[in-house]
Amino acid sequence: TDDATRLITELTAIVEDFPKPGITFRDLTPVFADGPALRAVADALVAPWVGKIDAIAGVEARGFLLAAAAAYSVGLGVLVVRKPGKLPRETISESYDLEYGSTSLEVQPADFPAGTRVLVIDDILATGGTLAASSRLIERAGWQVAGISVVLELDALNGRAALPGRDIHSLQRV
Ligand code: PRP
Ligand code: MG
Repeated sequence: TDDATRLITELTAIVEDFPKPGITFRDLTPVFADGPALRAVADALVAPWVGKIDAIAGVEARGFLLAAAAAYSVGLGVLVVRKPGKLPRETISESYDLEYGSTSLEVQPADFPAGTRVLVIDDILATGGTLAASSRLIERAGWQVAGISVVLELDALNGRAALPGRDIHSLQRV
């Protein structure tokens, strides 16, 4: 994790005024672009949970690539939490608020058995709306949220408050 945190600090690109004036965007694509960094980050996301989980959930879209890398590294499967209208079989859906309006995420309950212990992975914990909706979905599907791992946690947005009682592991807090 120390190695992962150092590489995140070195490689994250800070972009002012994106996607609009006043917002500081932390772009992780240089972390994803660097082989040793991607490996260190994927390994560090899953390390605290090895032996305690049965599957790794990735939240579309940026969570997908981290979840897939982490799952591959420990030999587990990926549970996909998708944006609406993408999954073809029976789905359940949870809405969450965006700055303007709302959107939703979906899972397919048939994909894993009841009781599956799930680690939920995403790139960034900001307001927590995305991970709160993902966690509710996983529980409504009959699975358990064993924990949550993110690369970056934006402390100013207090996303932890939206995730009471959840075990959250962030590789870096800014
Ligand atoms: C971004 C980011 C997280 C989420 C964090 O995803 O990848 O998933 O926002 O924000 P929150 O904690 O305030 O919910 P976005 O919805 O922009 O989509 P993407 O992953 O498809 O780029
Ligand atoms: Mg996202």
